[in-house]
Amino acid sequence: MARQEMRMHIGIFGLGYVGLTTAACLLRRGFDVTGYEVSDAKRAELLAGRCPLTEPGVEPMLVEGLSSGRFGVSSDISADRLPDVVLVCVGTPSSEDGSTDLTAVRSVFRRLEQLAAMMPAGRDMDVAVRSTLPPGTMDRLGEEFAAVFGRLGVVFYPEFLREGTAMADFDSPPQTVVGVGSGGRRPERLLGLLTEMKLPYQIVAPMSAEALKMACNAYHAIKVCFANEIGRIVNTLGGNGTEVMKLFVQDTVLNVSHRYLMPGAPYGGSCLPKDVRSISSVASRSGVTAEILAQCEASNASHLQYVVGEVLRSRPKAVGLLGLAFKPNTDDLRESPSLSLASALLAAGIRVVAHDRAIEPSRLLGVNRTALEGLLKRPGMSLCTDLGDLDRQVDAFVQMHRDRVYDELREARGGRPWANVSGWQFLGREGDAT
Ligand SMILES: NC(=O)c1ccc[n+]([C@@H]2O[C@H](COP(=O)([O-])OP(=O)(O)OC[C@H]3O[C@@H](n4cnc5c(N)ncnc54)[C@H](O)[C@@H]3O)[C@@H](O)[C@H]2O)c1
Repeated sequence: MARQEMRMHIGIFGLGYVGLTTAACLLRRGFDVTGYEVSDAKRAELLAGRCPLTEPGVEPMLVEGLSSGRFGVSSDISADRLPDVVLVCVGTPSSEDGSTDLTAVRSVFRRLEQLAAMMPAGRDMDVAVRSTLPPGTMDRLGEEFAAVFGRLGVVFYPEFLREGTAMADFDSPPQTVVGVGSGGRRPERLLGLLTEMKLPYQIVAPMSAEALKMACNAYHAIKVCFANEIGRIVNTLGGNGTEVMKLFVQDTVLNVSHRYLMPGAPYGGSCLPKDVRSISSVASRSGVTAEILAQCEASNASHLQYVVGEVLRSRPKAVGLLGLAFKPNTDDLRESPSLSLASALLAAGIRVVAHDRAIEPSRLLGVNRTALEGLLKRPGMSLCTDLGDLDRQVDAFVQMHRDRVYDELREARGGRPWANVSGWQFLGREGDAT
């Protein structure tokens, strides 16, 4: 209990797995905590000195807090003893249609609305929502409860703890991100609390923080299913799926790393498309259902359609296609998404002028030559070796490759739509950051 002198008072709405772990960790760090819980049964258990759930380390801290008077449990927040920071940890379960049920979050905000209306001038309180929310929820809550967002410092502060190791995770989260709305008050008390807890944080837009939390859980789920699909296929073939995945995770350069994890162009080239088809085919011929692998191609094709749609949105007559191979510095045109994009734009009646520093048509052989010749035969398609020439022929650009010369062109040319697929920014204008 190192911090008796500060005694910041934290209120927690919802004493479930997140709320009680949070309470225990804050008590351990010396803060005063009051929990607001609507369940009579949970409150009764807690007040009898028992933790209503199993989570290592939580119960002793709550019992100690109750006996020392630093932990209070109540059915509702009291206007007479407002905390400095409120953490909203109520449940956000799935509705029947899969959408998130925000009933509990809304009920907390209705209560905060009443409190904000009666809070004396000069009294501050920050509200940090820790319940997981679908992207865009905080912005909608901001419109619905404008008085709360106008009066209090309201933020979205996602929680990344895992049940079973929740206290350790709370103390050492993988990252600390705070979603602060542009018009909102800076949540000085909450940020002070994070600094006090030695948790370096990043401030981002609320939608980014909401989407980050969802993306993390979706990714973890996809990882589990992917590993199980590979394991099922290998085991069914008589191999050792666990051994394969143990080797797989040893590659921290390409596999367990930031690689292939930025939104950008669809995948293509001579390996990924063919090998994804191959492993899917092995699975189905072995009687193994492997939906993630089977859907990979469909997802990639949907992404190309998305890119096409974004480019068509600016209604261009002629597009400069910057990068023709599936990635820079290669003349490998096999299954390049740029070829598919060019084809889709031509089909939509748009002229396409392509450029690729690594492609010299006279040097191409075999399938690459056939692919390029096939494309160049299409009416409206041309290849340009000089970017200045290309620039004079088009009224929009699609940047498929990260390449300094393309970045320079973007900076030098203005007024025309620029779809930066390589850096995932569509229809930007001159000077847009990538
Ligand atoms: N459980 C986890 O490991 C975990 C991890 C990270 C984030 N989350 C997210 O945190 C949130 C809470 O998860 P949980 O597992 O602790 O849920 P939970 O169901 O265990 O606890 C929620 C508690 O909130 C109470 N509650 C509901 N409405 C209330 C109100 N108006 N006022 C006061 N209390 C109210 C409920 O009675 C319940 O005790 C969810 O959004 C969840 O997605 C959970």
